[in-house]
Amino acid sequence: MVILGAGPAGLVLGSLLHAGGVDCVVLERSSREHVQTRARAGFLAAHTVRVLDRHGLADGLRRRGQPHGVCEFRTEDGSFHLDYGCLGHGELHTVYPQQDLVSDLVERFLDAGGRIRFDTEAVAVLDADGTRPSVTVREGDGRPDRWHGRYVAGCDGRHGAARRALPPGTVRHRRDHGVSWLGLLAEAPPSLDAVGYAVHRRGFAGHMPRSAEVTRYYLECERGSSAAAWSEERIWEELAVRMRAAEHGPLRTGRIVQRGVVDLESDVLEPLRHGSLFLVGDAASLISPSAAKGANLAVLEAELLARALLDDLRRGDPEPLARYSARCLAHIWRAQEFSLWMIELLHGAPGSGAETLFRDALRRSRLESLRTSRTHQDWFAANYVGV
Ligand code: APR
Repeated sequence: MVILGAGPAGLVLGSLLHAGGVDCVVLERSSREHVQTRARAGFLAAHTVRVLDRHGLADGLRRRGQPHGVCEFRTEDGSFHLDYGCLGHGELHTVYPQQDLVSDLVERFLDAGGRIRFDTEAVAVLDADGTRPSVTVREGDGRPDRWHGRYVAGCDGRHGAARRALPPGTVRHRRDHGVSWLGLLAEAPPSLDAVGYAVHRRGFAGHMPRSAEVTRYYLECERGSSAAAWSEERIWEELAVRMRAAEHGPLRTGRIVQRGVVDLESDVLEPLRHGSLFLVGDAASLISPSAAKGANLAVLEAELLARALLDDLRRGDPEPLARYSARCLAHIWRAQEFSLWMIELLHGAPGSGAETLFRDALRRSRLESLRTSRTHQDWFAANYVGV
């Protein structure tokens, strides 16, 4: 079995297959150091933690992850908290930086005797429609090589080799949400005891605790703007205005150690299987970060695929593999729908015409319903923590 990519998807899949006695190799373009230090998402859904627990992969996050179950909305009409851990299905997030999860998974996989080839870029997936697919690679020193397997799992993200190998009939559903965020990592303790969502006429601002010393912030920015154009002073000023620090208390500032602009877009490929090639995680579907679903979907899909592959390879039952695509797509579309709902909740409409006024009034009505209706809150909680 050849697995492309050592992100959450590839590493969970590799660990589960290796534990099930399947010979597999993970091919990763970047260095080990790079994948273990790349700051990405950090909110793990209860289901994700259960999957990792079930397979003995949750020691680190059990020790160092922080349970989290409250979010706060700040708007022109005031602020309110949602104790979502006590609503819906009563489930919590675990805050655990993705690079720590990836480090734990790499270590566990290698300790168990798994093989990861770092600095090895998959160039092309060949013969995916047959039973002996192969992957051509470029090693770190530029040497070409080729790996064969019964199956190939594309866990190599949106720009990987798996997507390039898809036949012309593959459908790509795509949506550009027309919104961009400046994502920031600050060496500063969280300013709120909650995830904070601020809706402001200057744009959205978000506050996501990562640890006692580190906080992630987001600022909605103009499409095409450069992260470098924002001075630290301007960042903290703008965050204070949009988070309404004058009303709710000052932000705890610190050095900005990472920054980047992300355009919010989503896509879903269909189907997720082409002969012997399977798509998992970001390779299967890109999801906007508005509801922190990306890594959680990746883990859910990796477990589904691992089980189905074990059924096929160990028990000779190909049925679960045949259902892999449809089962994942049901979860993916649910997550996409909720992420879009969050985007519409958090962003004012651009401009000042009649349509802007209409959309802003809808957004306020949605927030008011979320503030006052227990039914709406339960729905929110179930979707917010669930995958
Ligand atoms: N060959 C080998 N490796 C590749 C190639 C390639 N051609 N292209 C990309 N990769 C590697 C990347 O370097 C990366 O380590 O594939 C890995 C993909 O990992 P992630 O991007 O973390 O994707 P995934 O495992 O699907 O996790 C999904 O985590 O933080 C979130 O935003 C992220 O939503 C995403 C989620």
